[in-house]
Amino acid sequence: MTHRILFVCLGNICRSPAAEGAFRSRAPHFETDSAGTSGWHVGDPPYGPMQNAALVRGIDLGDLRARQFSAEDFHRFDLIIGMDARNIADIEDLRPAGNETPVRLLTDFAPETGAEHVPDPYYTRDFDGALDLIETAVEGLRAHLDD
Ligand code: 4NP
Repeated sequence: MTHRILFVCLGNICRSPAAEGAFRSRAPHFETDSAGTSGWHVGDPPYGPMQNAALVRGIDLGDLRARQFSAEDFHRFDLIIGMDARNIADIEDLRPAGNETPVRLLTDFAPETGAEHVPDPYYTRDFDGALDLIETAVEGLRAHLDD
């Protein structure tokens, strides 16, 4: 059974906290967390413009704080979800020998969008576009896990 889900991006202040927040509001019975492959923002709350864009949709990210992804996360979670191919490569670099925890792209759960990754709004400044894709994908993830 998949109960513990970790969302991962680069900074852990935009995409992965948004994905965690959007998912937990739909599926509160799962244990969720998010992390960054970098340690650049450890201890920081989600980026203000992302918090504001999410709050307009009823998604409160205010309690979340950034931390860095580590090899132990492969043991602590049943499913690890990255936002882009670089995240997946950085996650896989830390996989312990013999560990088989699945690592997937969030966009795998939104095939109808044709998106191959979640563009980083820290650079694109398109927070609503990122949230549209994230919300579609976490809904697909929830449906997948309920099957
Ligand atoms: P995220 O976006 O990976 O979606 O949290 C970023 C946030 C900050 C930085 C890069 C990406 N940064 O370079 O500080």
